[in-house]
Amino acid sequence: MKIFIDTADVAAIREYANIGIVDGVTTNPSLIAKVGRKFEEVVREICDIVDGPISAEAISVGAEDMIPEAKKLAAIHENIVVKVPLTAEGLKTVKAVSQEGIKTNVTLCFSATQALLAAKAGATYISPFVGRLDDIAQEGMTLIQDIVDIYGNYGFATEVLVASIRNPLHFLEAARMGADVSTVPPSVLGQLLKHPLTDIGIEKFLADWETVPK
Ligand code: E4P
Repeated sequence: MKIFIDTADVAAIREYANIGIVDGVTTNPSLIAKVGRKFEEVVREICDIVDGPISAEAISVGAEDMIPEAKKLAAIHENIVVKVPLTAEGLKTVKAVSQEGIKTNVTLCFSATQALLAAKAGATYISPFVGRLDDIAQEGMTLIQDIVDIYGNYGFATEVLVASIRNPLHFLEAARMGADVSTVPPSVLGQLLKHPLTDIGIEKFLADWETVPK
């Protein structure tokens, strides 16, 4: 499973990229707003840090505006993946720009039928939001299993990118289900890495090493 980092915080991206576990980055307008910097400047900096797919989201509503916006975003850097919402206008955009070789990430997916339509339109990635479904008492991970099954039935090339991950269990289940990608906030990446028994083990090994005659 590929790991994308779900943030526009360049310090956090650098920290985890330096460990060597980051395959790509996802951003959205809320994550960009959080860092309080100019959109294009942040996106360019992210592209310099991570050599992998970097999702940048279009904010247009109609396809007539979203298509030129997608082309403009894609021109920022060769690794840009244009994020579009799962609406009729978003799918029209996917259809139009994918024919020109522009990669797309269809976001705000909350049902398997939506995911099937995005794949038919030619999406590179589909982003089902598991945490936001859990928030309304629907099991988000059930949606991932449905999409993985449906894409498998028909051999769609669209990659399942598990989004809105809120805890390590989301990540673990995504891997068990064979999702292609998980996009993980830095805080959850930290939780995935740490284990108290690892820390206790290191402490004990180092203490015992002190007693070894030198
Ligand atoms: C990523 O592509 C999504 O925009 C993000 O995972 C949404 O996460 P949230 O539901 O925690 O805001």
